[in-house]
Amino acid sequence: MWKTPWRRRSAGRGSWVGRSTTGGGHGGVPLSQFSWASIQSVEVLERSRAARFRPELRDVLLGYFGIRRGMQVLDVGCGPGTFTEYLAAAVAPGEVTGLDLDEEFVAYAQAKAATREGAHARYVVGDAYALPFEEASFDAVTSYTGIGVLTEPLKAVAEMVRVCRPGGSVSIAEGVSGPGGITFYGVDGTERPEPFPGARRLAELVRRLRSGRGDAIPGIGSAAWPRQALWALLASLGLEELQLNAWGHVIAPDDHRVGADLRGQLRAESFDELRQWVSWLLGGHGSSALSQEELQEILALGERRRLWAEDHPLWDWDGGLSIVASARKPDRPRGTLS
Ligand SMILES: C[S@@+](CC[C@H](N)C(=O)[O-])C[C@H]1O[C@@H](n2cnc3c(N)ncnc32)[C@H](O)[C@@H]1O
Repeated sequence: MWKTPWRRRSAGRGSWVGRSTTGGGHGGVPLSQFSWASIQSVEVLERSRAARFRPELRDVLLGYFGIRRGMQVLDVGCGPGTFTEYLAAAVAPGEVTGLDLDEEFVAYAQAKAATREGAHARYVVGDAYALPFEEASFDAVTSYTGIGVLTEPLKAVAEMVRVCRPGGSVSIAEGVSGPGGITFYGVDGTERPEPFPGARRLAELVRRLRSGRGDAIPGIGSAAWPRQALWALLASLGLEELQLNAWGHVIAPDDHRVGADLRGQLRAESFDELRQWVSWLLGGHGSSALSQEELQEILALGERRRLWAEDHPLWDWDGGLSIVASARKPDRPRGTLS
């Protein structure tokens, strides 16, 4: 059997993949005991996913996930169901099941689906590590940024493979942006014709915060586990016909195509998420490389930036890169598949 770096790393305790199931690395807070919505709100997820899956690109992007009309699909770690809805529209009259551990997200997604005419999405509360479905229940199993937040991704992906039918597809997408990548603020203030005073300090604090983010909340903008391993992970589970695709996405509030209503929302986009996260840390959760004073400083600078932006162009953009690794479950199980 081909020995992947993934397998070698997963063997050792103390490696990222050897940590406990949902505890550890969350600043002592097991993931099962707090709501993901408390660190990434429904609004933040919905806005960012709408920007990433722009309508004119959607068909191509969903193709990366092996999605075709008529399929029965499972979406693992579906959050408020934004990505799940795109899947549902693409597979109709097939159906998508969204699964998430967070009851608040699932309730929100269910309520939203109930208002959709001819909706083909249903939602369940469940754990990615123990999917509540029979073997071979779905034609395709997807996860968009649902695996990267886990401390034992291999265990969850093995579950995704189990519930996928032979010949079906399993795909996982993760952001690969991070410190030094294309992240919060495309510029640090110095390159702008009219920079926000304090932009450089804010950018520096954010950079430091982000670089330690893996310690506070695994998976968000950090290297809690190497995203480059996505591909090796699928291969190590005996899948075949591997594909790796990527696309970049940016949000610029002052993009001339952005209407007045959306503009205000987009101007808040980057900072909303940051504010929520910093407030969560200030509330005594998680851990951070920054002092309490520095965390307060981020909030104060963010508020000053918001007021300043009311009558100045922002010249900001927020962007990232998503990678989709997908593969086919063999028709006949191999020795490596359980
Ligand atoms: C970054 S969010 C992504 C949500 C959604 N896929 C999206 O892109 O909008 C990560 C999601 O994983 C969920 N999650 C975390 N641990 C989980 C687990 N063990 N089982 C199922 N879902 C989990 C969280 O509740 C959260 O909704």
